[in-house]
Amino acid sequence: MASTMGKVVFVAPLCLVISRFMYNAHAKSVQPEPSIRIGIIGGGIGGSSCSYFLHELFGAKASIDVYEPSDIGGRIATVDIGGHTYESGASIIHPGNMYMKKFTKEFGLKHKDKIPGQKMGFYDGEKFVFLESDWVIATYAKMLWHYGWDLIKFRREIGVFVEKFSRIYDSQKKGVAYSSVEGIMNTIGGNEVVDYTKVPFLKALKDRGYKDVIIDEMMAIATRVNYGQSVNMSAFAGFVSVAGIQGGLFSVHGGNNQVCSQLLQKSRANIIKSTIKGVKLDTESATPGYYLTIAANENSNSTFHTSERYDIIVIATPLHEGKSNISFEGFPKKITNFPGRFHRTVATFVDGELNTASFGFKNMSGCPNQILTTKDNQFKINSIAHNLPIDCKVGNKESQKPVWKVFSKEPLSEKQLYALFASRKEMKVVDWLAYPHYDPQNSLPKFELHDQLYYINGIEWAASAIEMLIVGSRNTALLAYNKYNGLNDMIDVDFNQKTEL
Ligand SMILES: Cc1cc2nc3c(=O)[nH]c(=O)nc-3n(C[C@H](O)[C@H](O)[C@H](O)COP(=O)(O)OP(=O)(O)OC[C@H]3O[C@@H](n4cnc5c(N)ncnc54)[C@H](O)[C@@H]3O)c2cc1C
Ligand SMILES: *[C@@H]1O[C@H](CO)[C@@H](O)[C@H](O)[C@H]1NC(C)=O
Ligand SMILES: *[C@@H]1O[C@H](CO)[C@@H](O)[C@H](O)[C@H]1NC(C)=O
Ligand SMILES: *[C@@H]1O[C@H](CO)[C@@H](O)[C@H](O)[C@H]1NC(C)=O
Ligand SMILES: *[C@@H]1O[C@H](CO)[C@@H](O)[C@H](O)[C@H]1NC(C)=O
Repeated sequence: MASTMGKVVFVAPLCLVISRFMYNAHAKSVQPEPSIRIGIIGGGIGGSSCSYFLHELFGAKASIDVYEPSDIGGRIATVDIGGHTYESGASIIHPGNMYMKKFTKEFGLKHKDKIPGQKMGFYDGEKFVFLESDWVIATYAKMLWHYGWDLIKFRREIGVFVEKFSRIYDSQKKGVAYSSVEGIMNTIGGNEVVDYTKVPFLKALKDRGYKDVIIDEMMAIATRVNYGQSVNMSAFAGFVSVAGIQGGLFSVHGGNNQVCSQLLQKSRANIIKSTIKGVKLDTESATPGYYLTIAANENSNSTFHTSERYDIIVIATPLHEGKSNISFEGFPKKITNFPGRFHRTVATFVDGELNTASFGFKNMSGCPNQILTTKDNQFKINSIAHNLPIDCKVGNKESQKPVWKVFSKEPLSEKQLYALFASRKEMKVVDWLAYPHYDPQNSLPKFELHDQLYYINGIEWAASAIEMLIVGSRNTALLAYNKYNGLNDMIDVDFNQKTEL
């Protein structure tokens, strides 16, 4: 992974000179001089896909700089342990995620092989309330017996939700952009879906008549494992977290973050390995413009900050709670105060053996290796599960070496680790400021902070997931393009009223 990135990663501040030079050399041979400068802050899936969509829309007219001080991919990342590499952040992609499916195919990437031998168990802190069988049919029958009609009803409901979600693809294909996250929610499903972001998941489920057993187990697990939260979180994020019930989930063979580096490469972006400290409004120019304050490279002792002017700025990182520390200067109306907080999720990887006795088993025979918890428990974990390497292959035993991955709200103490593991050869901890706390009281941020200054991650406040950020980034690219070209009739089109577009 690092080797493919090496080619495109420069070191600031030299990079500014080099990248300009390279761009011009290319431009002279075929394309007109770029006349629009675009700066993107953050090289996660949001920033990298936005760069791709902006390049698609503006073509050679625009030159794009992407600022990313760390690894490309952001919260899509890997960890090395026990001689193999594993996903440490976002790992699962839903088959209804059209953009991720399209990118994977377009870039010639493969889906990671599915290796049998995963056995799931729902653990309530004392016992397993549900245990997967060795046969799929038996598992389904068992689930039906346990959850009854609610299971069928819920699978159907998720199917409808996923289908509704796909309406946003149609509207984006037509070039429509929304200035707010609410506009996107409205396109997906009118007021009903807008309301999903404002009511607790629990209430939405109760209103639909679901019984406690499915809520307390399956729904609680989905919200705990995916978002470290509970059914008290907002219903939209709840539905997103349970969408996996449909099956067909996948990961990218060789690591999901390859999609990010490919997107940046295809968009011909200059990747600048620096932190942005601030955004300053250019008050002298007649057309919109901003100066980015670029931090001196962390690896040098220089405290020299540089500044670059751009016509369009995209912020592709959360602006909450010490997540990015970007200051805004010179704006007539202060840009500040993004309310809400982020959840901490600690991913602990252990190459070792589970202490099966803690879960009531003599050994691994019969013991689930995907233990998902329904509520807070003595181990203080959300889940503990076998994870397979990013490049595991059917028929290659060595490539299938699993390690345990534990999700918890806090780092695990030695005492907790002792209770969970019989032995530990190696351990790695990845500490994430992971996703928003989905309080149904939250208001949803706008995509446009100022004229041609955009913020993708507002969409995370509906739900944080790879595909959500890509939807947000395409919307941002369309918004910038439509505004730049005065295509105001392509902004905030209400598809629930006007469908003839
Ligand atoms: C543990 C975990 C598991 C998850 N599992 C899944 C999953 O299975 N499926 C799924 O779809 N989603 C999952 N998610 C959610 C998903 O990872 C995120 O929604 C998505 O990756 C966010 O992408 P982003 O580009 O918006 O932000 P990030 O990936 O956070 O990217 C922002 C980037 O901006 C950079 N940056 C920050 N400040 C500055 C600055 N001042 N200047 C320049 N650069 C800056 C950062 O270094 C970072 O690389 C998971 C998240 C976590 C944490
Ligand atoms: C959800 O909220 C209710 C009331 O606000 C509270 O009693 C309950 O404990 C909460 N549930 C969880 C799982 O946090
Ligand atoms: C920075 O300064 C310290 C002490 O003055 C020195 O040890 C270190 O090598 C310097 N680092 C770089 C990258 O120049
Ligand atoms: C932001 O600033 C806070 C406090 O100054 C600091 O603790 C935090 O590490 C910073 N975050 C980033 C991403 O730089
Ligand atoms: C595992 O435990 C079961 C009983 O629960 C026992 O029958 C079996 O022999 C054990 N296997 C090993 C490899 O110890």
